[in-house]
Amino acid sequence: MNQDEAKRRAARAAMRYVEPGMIVGVGTGSTVAHFIDALAERRHDIAGAVSSSEWSSQRLRAHGIEVLDLNATGELPLYVDGADECDGAKCLIKGGGAALTREKIVAAASRRFVCVIDASKRVEVLGRFPLPIEVIPMARSHVARELVRRGGQPVWRDGVVTDNGNWILDVHNLRISAPLALEAELNQIAGVVTVGLFAARRADVVLIGDEVMP
Ligand code: A5P
Repeated sequence: MNQDEAKRRAARAAMRYVEPGMIVGVGTGSTVAHFIDALAERRHDIAGAVSSSEWSSQRLRAHGIEVLDLNATGELPLYVDGADECDGAKCLIKGGGAALTREKIVAAASRRFVCVIDASKRVEVLGRFPLPIEVIPMARSHVARELVRRGGQPVWRDGVVTDNGNWILDVHNLRISAPLALEAELNQIAGVVTVGLFAARRADVVLIGDEVMP
């Protein structure tokens, strides 16, 4: 099975968690694109979506799905999103598509986080995929120095501006064996907006293709 087909299967399998009348939290990326397409088939059956990026909002609206403001919806029953890496404890690296901040917000505001991936994303130890960190532009060099002090090799994703007007550093060379502790530590660096480690709020369910990860 090719990678895109595995992503499509995972996205379709996530539809099992969508119930009538739900407001669904929707992530960002090529796997989520398949989920939005599947959700469109049930658009009359759901109350709307809360989106994690401008890109996803456009795709949702193009399919006739209403995009709602998280401030008006309250807590969500379900959030569906992809990931760049996933370890055995369902901790994730996210942000390859630069949408990590809104993704983290919607995940935090959701009771159940269903993560949809293909098998290539499943790793023993996080960190092979460079860790994305969203930073306030004026803090870029300061944050980069702090990351070097911690053994990382930050690379500015030049030319990319997030939906929030910020920049992204991709941190290479990290072997993340204690994701919860590293997430908390990096969150303390002045100028960091969001760390693409999803450990404090990790996935509740991981679908690898159409299989539930144990
Ligand atoms: C977006 O910022 C990311 O967190 C995505 O969830 C992640 O990059 C997975 O993307 P794909 O589904 O395109 O592999």
